[in-house]
Amino acid sequence: MNKGATIYYILNVYARIKITKLKWAYSAQIKLNLSEVNMNINENYKNLNESYLFSTIAKKVSDFSSKNPNMEIIKLGIGDVTLPLCPAVIEELHNAVNEMSCKETFKGYGPEQGHDFLKISIQNYYKNFCITLKLNEIFISDGAKSDLGNILDLFSKDNICLIPDPVYPVYVDTNLMAGRKIIYIDANEENNFLPLPDESIKCDIIYICSPNNPTGAVYNREQLKKWVDYAISNNAIILFDSAYESFISGDEFPRSIYEIEGAKACAIEFCSLSKTAGFTGTRCGYTIVPDNLNYNNMNLNKMWLRRQTTKFNGVPYIIQKAAAAVFTNEGQKQIQENLNYYKRNAKIISDTLDKLDIKYTGGKNSPYIWLKCPSNMNSWDFFDLLLTKIGIVGTPGSGFGKNGENWFRLTSFNTIENTTKAMERFYNFFK
Ligand code: MLT
Repeated sequence: MNKGATIYYILNVYARIKITKLKWAYSAQIKLNLSEVNMNINENYKNLNESYLFSTIAKKVSDFSSKNPNMEIIKLGIGDVTLPLCPAVIEELHNAVNEMSCKETFKGYGPEQGHDFLKISIQNYYKNFCITLKLNEIFISDGAKSDLGNILDLFSKDNICLIPDPVYPVYVDTNLMAGRKIIYIDANEENNFLPLPDESIKCDIIYICSPNNPTGAVYNREQLKKWVDYAISNNAIILFDSAYESFISGDEFPRSIYEIEGAKACAIEFCSLSKTAGFTGTRCGYTIVPDNLNYNNMNLNKMWLRRQTTKFNGVPYIIQKAAAAVFTNEGQKQIQENLNYYKRNAKIISDTLDKLDIKYTGGKNSPYIWLKCPSNMNSWDFFDLLLTKIGIVGTPGSGFGKNGENWFRLTSFNTIENTTKAMERFYNFFK
């Protein structure tokens, strides 16, 4: 290398080192500045309990089990099913999987709001209750829980919610996350856990769950009509959770809010196949948004479609095929057998409570039995007592709200053998 080239080479290396150092200094400066910027996060989360009710219970039970590995625990807590999916559903699942394996029948993205074949099945199902739905009013979801939370995207943060207490915690938590004001109405022994509207209360969003989670109480048509009239006169909307409708027997109680005159002008209905057909792990439900539901010159059906097409890619095709099988004659017969099985469990529980003279509601048109804790015990103390002394898991009533204090929820979703064993233990302990 000659002298000129050597100087050129040295200068070049020096310049590169200088540039790299400048780059480091610049990126360090950016990091410093960013750390000085205030990041605003959703502080409403501070208003929530530290963990979701059923997660808290699961943690307590797993801690207890690991310290007491020889204790046989029977779970009558979270409403999770134990019977497998019925044969008609399994067959359709297999068929759909085969379709996905073949170039000609493979499916990619589907309509975000669900395939027509499933919507038509649901449309026909509603005809059993003399309800006419248009296909564009039916939205297939991955379950009622998700849509009950997601629907709040359509409403202003300034809306006021009316929520019964005790209540399925999802209604409360999703509104607390959004910072919305909540007014609670008491559901208690005096009103048979079926509160009716109070004209002096003004609100925008009303939550109703019937058959009720957690109390198992069911509104009749006359009572629901009062809620519909109240919603219309207040320009409010009812978010109606009908996840347990299939546990209703006979014609005395409505299976859908749309059996009530006027409901299509003021209600959205959320339903799920979780408890109806054992889809807790398979995930499929549906939400009905009537197409004439208008507030402030905005159409909620169109808004929900817009929301879903933006934020949701639909339920998997194979799951929708399986869900459609639930609504076939064969599927309906088979799921009814499963529902009857859970109803027998509910009877085992309620018979035991009758023998012990313990007050309760539910268990007839609902998988939940809501009982008064013996000796008016505190709900969490009763939870600990059952878990530690007789190895039974239930759900403390106070986890569903202040009116749930001294109450307790048992589910009928375990096996008949476990339910029988649990109630024998229960009887022997409290007799
Ligand atoms: C319950 O136990 O209340 C339900 O299983 C919860 C749910 O359906 O998300």
